[in-house]
Amino acid sequence: MTSVIPPGSTIGVLGGGQLGRMLTTTARKMGYQVHTFSPEKDTPTGQVANLAVSASYEDLDALRGFASQVQVVTLEFENIPIKAIDAVESLAPVRPSGTALQIAQQRTREKNFLANHGFPTVPFASAVTLDELQKAVKSIGTPVVIKTAEFGYDGKGQHQVSTLADVENIWNAIGHREVLVEKFVSLQSEVSVIAARGLDGTIAEYMLFKNCHRNHILDVATAPADVDKSIAVRAVEIARGILDQLQYFGVLCVEYFITTGGDLLVNELAPRTHNSGHLTLEACATSQFEQQVRAICGLPLGSTELLQPAAMANLLGDLWVEGEPNWAAAELFPEVKLHLYGKKDPRRGRKMGHLTALGRTTEEAKQSVMSARKAVLS
Ligand SMILES: Nc1ncnc2c1ncn2[C@@H]1O[C@H](COP(=O)(O)OP(=O)(O)O)[C@@H](O)[C@H]1O
Ligand SMILES: [Mg+2]
Repeated sequence: MTSVIPPGSTIGVLGGGQLGRMLTTTARKMGYQVHTFSPEKDTPTGQVANLAVSASYEDLDALRGFASQVQVVTLEFENIPIKAIDAVESLAPVRPSGTALQIAQQRTREKNFLANHGFPTVPFASAVTLDELQKAVKSIGTPVVIKTAEFGYDGKGQHQVSTLADVENIWNAIGHREVLVEKFVSLQSEVSVIAARGLDGTIAEYMLFKNCHRNHILDVATAPADVDKSIAVRAVEIARGILDQLQYFGVLCVEYFITTGGDLLVNELAPRTHNSGHLTLEACATSQFEQQVRAICGLPLGSTELLQPAAMANLLGDLWVEGEPNWAAAELFPEVKLHLYGKKDPRRGRKMGHLTALGRTTEEAKQSVMSARKAVLS
């Protein structure tokens, strides 16, 4: 028997970013209260939550106080220290669990987990010394990507290497930390499967989303993705296998590479809702945020049906170079929806908001978000 955490209960969210913000507005609409915990103040999540606790993830007393006031804890950010999860676990169920988080937050562990369970990945090797790194680059063969094993996101901590001579400089630039070396593969496209596993083990996945990156950061996501049926079927099969293997509760995103040779490889796991799924808010019967609430609260999972082709374009801090963009210009597009995350400091590469458009076709939706994003700069 799984016990339902009904509307009216309080959900605790570790992390204070935009994923937590959209989870919170959705959960509150469903009748839940939301408390958020983050080291920062005035966070995107905190601005819309019932309560925002601002304390360090090392402050275990503050974490225990936070957990004692909620019925379930989830996360919107994967780099939460495992000690913090351990501290709250005895007071409220944490979904997804610390085990899943531990795997997803360390690239070597993540790749080993995937490889050990037969899920396809790029060739990889880990290194903790310069000597090991040089050997790893040699054995995999350039070009490679060297990634810090921890705390990487949006391409941060990644270095592409085409010659062995550059390795030492990169090792120094990274600060002699554990790294993962991956073969740099030539990509036909990138896709993701966002899926949820409920407390009863039921799984529901969205159809594949296609993700276009710029400077290693997601730029535009579209649905449905124009990929071969056999690849789509295999991607869903893999995502389901991963959820079951992890005995996972909640929403998980599996990011995939499709190589120019037609191979489907798992790139990485995100143990939470995902940027490529923002379009589910407007385009699907159940958004990824509602699905997360349903999954962690023991409710039945909602329909993942895509109701209309859609596209999402990120609004990065780069758009602010000439000052605040002209948001009213985006509102001139009736099929475009503007989301801003309430962040005050528009740094380059920082995710400040996004635009979503529905269309009769994916291409039409994509053209709409691209035009609207261009218009805000006028
Ligand atoms: N081995 C690789 N081969 C080719 N492109 C890569 C490789 N690793 C990363 N990339 C590119 O960089 C992007 C970000 O890398 P990823 O490992 O997903 O890190 P992050 O955690 O920053 O999202 C990928 O979506 C892809 O476009
Ligand atoms: Mg990624």
